[in-house]
Formats: sequence, C-alpha cells, structure tokens
Amino acid sequence: MCGIVGYTGREQAAPILLDGLSRLEYRGYDSAGLAVRDGGAPAEVVKAVGKLHHLADKTDQGRALRGQCGIGHTRWATHGDPTVINAHPHVSGNIAAPGGGAAESDVVGVHNGIIENYAELKEKLLRHGYVFYSDTDTEAVVKLVDYYYKKYGIGPVDAITRTMVRVRGSYALALMFRDYPGEIFAARKDSPLIIGTAEDASYLASDVPAILKYTRSVYYIDNLQVARVSPGHAVFYDLNGDETAVPLTEITWDAAAAEKDGFEHFMLKEIHEQPAAVRDTLNSLVKDGRADLGAAGLTEDIIRSLNGIVIAACGSAWHVGMAAQYVIEDLAGIPVRVELASEFRYRSMPMNENTLVIVISQSGETADSLAALRVAKERGALTLAVVNVVGSTIAREADHVLYTLAGPEIAVATTKAYSAQLAAMDVLAAEMARARGMITGEHYARLLEELAALPDKIRRVLEDKERLQWFSSKISNAHDIFFIGRGLDYAVSLEGSLKMKEISYIHSEAYAAGELKHGTISLIEQGTLVIGVLTQSRLFEKTVSNMMECKSRGASLMGITVNGNFAVEDSVNFTVYVPKTDEHFTPSLAVVPLQLLGYYTSVSRGLDVDKPRNLAKSVTVE
Ligand code: AGP
Repeated sequence: MCGIVGYTGREQAAPILLDGLSRLEYRGYDSAGLAVRDGGAPAEVVKAVGKLHHLADKTDQGRALRGQCGIGHTRWATHGDPTVINAHPHVSGNIAAPGGGAAESDVVGVHNGIIENYAELKEKLLRHGYVFYSDTDTEAVVKLVDYYYKKYGIGPVDAITRTMVRVRGSYALALMFRDYPGEIFAARKDSPLIIGTAEDASYLASDVPAILKYTRSVYYIDNLQVARVSPGHAVFYDLNGDETAVPLTEITWDAAAAEKDGFEHFMLKEIHEQPAAVRDTLNSLVKDGRADLGAAGLTEDIIRSLNGIVIAACGSAWHVGMAAQYVIEDLAGIPVRVELASEFRYRSMPMNENTLVIVISQSGETADSLAALRVAKERGALTLAVVNVVGSTIAREADHVLYTLAGPEIAVATTKAYSAQLAAMDVLAAEMARARGMITGEHYARLLEELAALPDKIRRVLEDKERLQWFSSKISNAHDIFFIGRGLDYAVSLEGSLKMKEISYIHSEAYAAGELKHGTISLIEQGTLVIGVLTQSRLFEKTVSNMMECKSRGASLMGITVNGNFAVEDSVNFTVYVPKTDEHFTPSLAVVPLQLLGYYTSVSRGLDVDKPRNLAKSVTVE
C-alpha cells in the first residue's frame, strides 16, 4: 500500500518527511515524492522512482527543500506504471517538470487508496479545461478538489467534502492549499490515516511507525471525516462540514509492533487483509454488475475465439491455476491445462493464436513464469498476465494484464495475493462463460453476487482463528501431514500443504483423495494427521470414505466443510466450518483455515514465520 506523511511545525519539514517515509518502507513501494512549502511560497515538488534513497539523494537528504510545512508519499502503483510522472505528490495545475519542480498550483496532494470512478471524473475535469500529465487516479481527485474550491469559492474543508461525496473508492488524502500556508488538510475513507500532535508541531501518517519518534499522541481520523491540521493543532469535520470531535489516543506500541499494525507477524496481518484484498480486486474488475475486462484488452471476440487455455505458474500461483481450471471448464466450457512454469518452458506443447496462456504471478518477476510467458509468445499463443505488481516484467511483456489489488505482500508465504488471484480468476471464468453464452444473464448476475459476498465471508472464517490456534498447538510435533480432497478441494489441499511445509518445516503432501489407495496410503501410521477438504457436495461422501480408510489405519482426521454438514463430526477429530457460497468459490473460504493452521503451527514451533529458511519472496533465478 502507499505511504503518506505530513509535517507542519517549526522545524524544516523535508528531513522529517523523509524519516517518516523510511519507516513506512515495509509497506512496499516503487516511487516516492515530497512537496514542501516555505511560508507562503508555492510548494516545491520533488519525485523519484525506485528506493527512497533516490529521493533523499535528489534533495540532499531533504536539505535542498526549504520550508516548515510539507507532505510526502511512497507509491505502490495501482493506476499507471511506476514512473516519476506518476509518483505523488500530484497537483491541480501542470507541473513544471516531470520530476516535480515548483508547482504553480492551488492544490497539492498525496493519496493512498483506489478511486474507482476516476475515469469519469477525469472526463468531467477535461471538459472543464483541466490538463492531465499522469495516468493516476490521484491526479483526478486532487484536480477535483481544486475544481470545487474554485467553482464555489469555498474553503478547503468544503471543497474536500464535496469531493468526498462525488468520488467512489477508498482514499486517505493529505492536501496543501496555496492560500493556506502552514496548514495541511486530510480526509479518509477505508484507507488508514492518523494525525499526531506535539508542542508546536503536527504530523500525518498512514501508519504509526512514521510518527512514533515524534509523538505518541494521535488522532485516528474516522471514515468520511476531514481534518484541518496546523502546528500542534487539528480540527475535524464531518461530511457536512460541521466540526466534530475525535478522541486523542496515546500509542503504547513499540516501533517494531507498529509496522505490523499490532499483529505479531506480517503473515498474520496479511491473512487478515484478505477481505480487503479480495474486495479491492473484485471492485477493480467488476463495474456496475459486469466484469470490465476491457482494460485488459480481453474483448468478447477474443474470448469467443479461444479453443484452449494453458495456465503456467509456480508455487501458490500454480495452485490458483489448479483451482481455476475446474471453474473455467465448468462454467465456460473451455479446456484448461495447468502447467508448472518450470516444466512448461521446456515442453513442446502445440498452441496457436486461439490458445490463451495465462501466467499467474504475485511478484511478476518469477524467472520460470517469465520464461513460460516468453515461450508462449514465441509459439504464437495469446498471453494474459495476472499479477499483483504494476509495471512488473511479466505484466509488461504479456499481451494482456489483469492486476490483483492485494497491495504489497511482505511475508514470504503468500496469502492475500493468492486469495486476490483466486478472485480474479473466478471473475475471468464467469465473464468467459457469459461471453460464450454458456450461462444465462441471471446465472452470471448470481455468480457476481456470490463473489461480492466473499470478503465478508472470509472475515467470518477469520473469527474462528482461536480454535485453529488451539489445534495447531496439538499438531506442532507432527512428522507428516496429508491434505486430501477432490476437484476444487484437491486444489485447496495443495495450497494448505505448501503453507504447512514452507513455514513450519513439517513434511506434508497434498493428494487427490481418490489417488491415496494407489500407493500413498501405505504411509499412514498411528496418529498420522489427514486433513480432508470437503466443500464440494457431489464429492463429499467419496472424500469422507477416503478419510475413513485412513482412519482405519490409525490416522487422526481434521475436516474442513461448509456450514450445515454437521454429520462430519461423527467421523473426524476436529472440524472447521466455512460459510456456504457458490461451490465454484469455496476455495476462497476453505484456504483460510489452512493458512491459519500453517501460521500457528510455525509460531508454536518458534520459527521465523515471515522469513522461512531457504526461501525468497520472489524467485527471480531459474
Ligand atoms: C508461496 O507461499 C511461495 N512464496 C511461493 O510458492 C510463490 O507462490 C511462488 O514462488 C510464485 O511466486 P510469484 O507468485 O511471485 O510468481
């Protein structure tokens, strides 16, 4: 996610802003910028791509920017590639130079979040004579504030509240107005923002670590509130522009805990970010009840021309492909092959322009997946990337791109990116089915409704985490754990097994339940844990009977199934229930208990959950 900082007080702002941004680096970013004002002078804007030290070097560690009021930003690209021109801050006028320069503008701002209707706002502003220099949604919202500020001759607070009524999406905004030197205005909806005050100074930040060094007294500005911040003082307003009270909170966390938002590990934080990651990804792909794949260039004609799909990926991304194959084949009737990218790149698989090769990758930099993409293009196939990092190599080289909006994922073991990829592939499957006339409009609408309900259902699964923590403590000395399932449940088993292996170092295997009796069941001994995923109603009984075969050989059983299948408790030792949903989408729910099981088992074994041994977050070498 992006990082926002702000300062107004008696000190020079730039060094404080750079220090604050450095404490938000954990949030992940690809560019950064500052805007600083010296008294009533226009803001000086400086931006740089890459790591923060590029910006620090460009401003001589902040010394080159004079002024006691300023805002800063680290950008995690969602709209527009990571370039200097797209980096924040953005201005209401036209910047003097791509890197920034003096901004002859009335409004300068930074933003964290996603403005879903920015395209229509941009059209409106173009009609009113505004000129755009970037591809970002943020520039549109800064210019919209300026538009209302000038059109109605109202103060900053009213211009901001009018903007908030007009935009759809999530935002944390920090804005400076030329006519209001020394002051910073802020607003938020769904994206985090805090305001700290100390004697003769005030601070703004996306997260506590950025200001903990300066003050522990903070205001948590609430959704749809506006703040007017001056040195040592903050006044808050509601959407009507009426003053409202916000309690002052004393922070008790230390800096390390604060980066994880109070969670013990980034992995647990990211598991809990899954509802938002899925929601943001779905909102970016589905507009007004229709999947909008136009941005990806996947027209209905292209979808109808396909006679085969190959999904190439690695690790958890490959597991997403294993799930997506069932959904696409069942809904859209297109044959799907799922290949490990490291194998696909050396195969001689026939393909042509009617073959769609989908490369799924969180980082967009995995060497094997990139190689698979290049082989597919050489073979004349159409290529689609499903990636989480805007402007990544795989995103840039594919013919078409669907971005997941999970935000930066810090833990090596993926969770929220995996879930966001699942959601994106489910939308793709539903849209393919509709475009190829395989489902009715009513069925299509129902599928999208079920998808839209997933974030809240994931949240409900997370409420069961204490039971999983308890069960993890009982299995932390296991030597072998088997995950079994059929169809989509097998795909989920694959991910559950990998989560367990990669962070708890316990040997684990995922097996198609029907395949156990062809050899692997010989490994079942007294007390071996077998975890059965049981969400597919027409396969439920078959997998339960496979579990019974294991139990009769001494296995202990855990089952994951949907609410209502209570009979399973007569057969297994520990059961986890997930809310009902369309059975194509149950992996998004069933995977969560398995993520938590792996996480808590690793914690109970005292391991480095976020940085497991031998592993890297992105495997950029073959
Ligand atoms: C998953 O928890 C692992 N970190 C790993 O399997 C990962 O999914 C794989 O390396 C693929 O990475 P990518 O999605 O960035 O391509």
